[in-house]
Amino acid sequence: MNMNHRVTKAVIPAAGLGTRFLPATKAMPKEMLPVVDEPAIQYVVAEASKAGLSDVLMITGRNKRALEDHFDRVPSIEAALEAKGDHERLKRVQEATELGEIHYIRQGDPKGLGHAVLCAKQHVGNEPFAVLLGDDLIDERDELLSIMIDVQEKTGGSVIALMEVDPAQISAYGCADVSAVEGEGFVKVNGLVEKPAVEDAPSNLAVIGRYVLHPRVFSVLEETAPGRGNEIQLTDALETLARAEGDGAGVHAVVFRGRRYDTGDKVSYLQAVISLASERDDIAPALVPWLKDFVAGL
Ligand code: UTP
Repeated sequence: MNMNHRVTKAVIPAAGLGTRFLPATKAMPKEMLPVVDEPAIQYVVAEASKAGLSDVLMITGRNKRALEDHFDRVPSIEAALEAKGDHERLKRVQEATELGEIHYIRQGDPKGLGHAVLCAKQHVGNEPFAVLLGDDLIDERDELLSIMIDVQEKTGGSVIALMEVDPAQISAYGCADVSAVEGEGFVKVNGLVEKPAVEDAPSNLAVIGRYVLHPRVFSVLEETAPGRGNEIQLTDALETLARAEGDGAGVHAVVFRGRRYDTGDKVSYLQAVISLASERDDIAPALVPWLKDFVAGL
């Protein structure tokens, strides 16, 4: 991996309403739902940190306190664990506070993912940056973000991540029309459409929640009118960039074939919990035999 990355900043939008997970998300952001024993957002911040992005800007909304508190120290808990000599738990508690420098900005009104990204304009400035959706988990054993950063450095424009989905499911995602780039492991994006009807979809390649964006996206977002769902869509701004010319134009994509979970969706969330817990040395010996029995009895 190239460690001299120019990309140093990560933006993590976590201001959505989380309506698909109500009522659990009535008083708590969906990004705080526990995946085994860590909130989903901690996996995402850890992924950014692992890719060398130590400056994180989190876009928060209502109920933002739980997010801020989670990445802050809690001296009383640390002191209690210290007094008990529970160093193992102490280490786990401190992990969240050691992932880098985390800044917060509030998206007053959740007017869409594009609008959330635009809130980062001042903090990001005029350099390429990564966007990681706070409810999208990429298994840490499967590399994606650092590959996308390399592609951004090579192509100079913006980079998105795509995943093949069952064609019948494409209307739940942004969808890309792509063409091959000879001799390269990435593709060129010719066009994008947010949540198309199955019959209008140009492919079964769905946009997933990792982006490495050229700062030109900010001026495009400022001009992007609300689209689907009356929200300012990042997909619409990327569609404009894919078709634009000049500095900072162009969109390429990495097709991800690893494990990914959408923790904002109930079924995908449960799959994340079961799958990650089944691989944990401290949990699997008790969980897996029960799981096998349980499944056999279904
Ligand atoms: P989703 O499309 O999952 O929307 O957002 P949502 O509102 O959070 O969830 P549902 O569909 O109502 O259940 C994708 C990502 O963009 C963020 C969300 O927090 C999530 O990480 N987002 C979305 C914002 O930060 N602001 C917005 O205005 C919209």
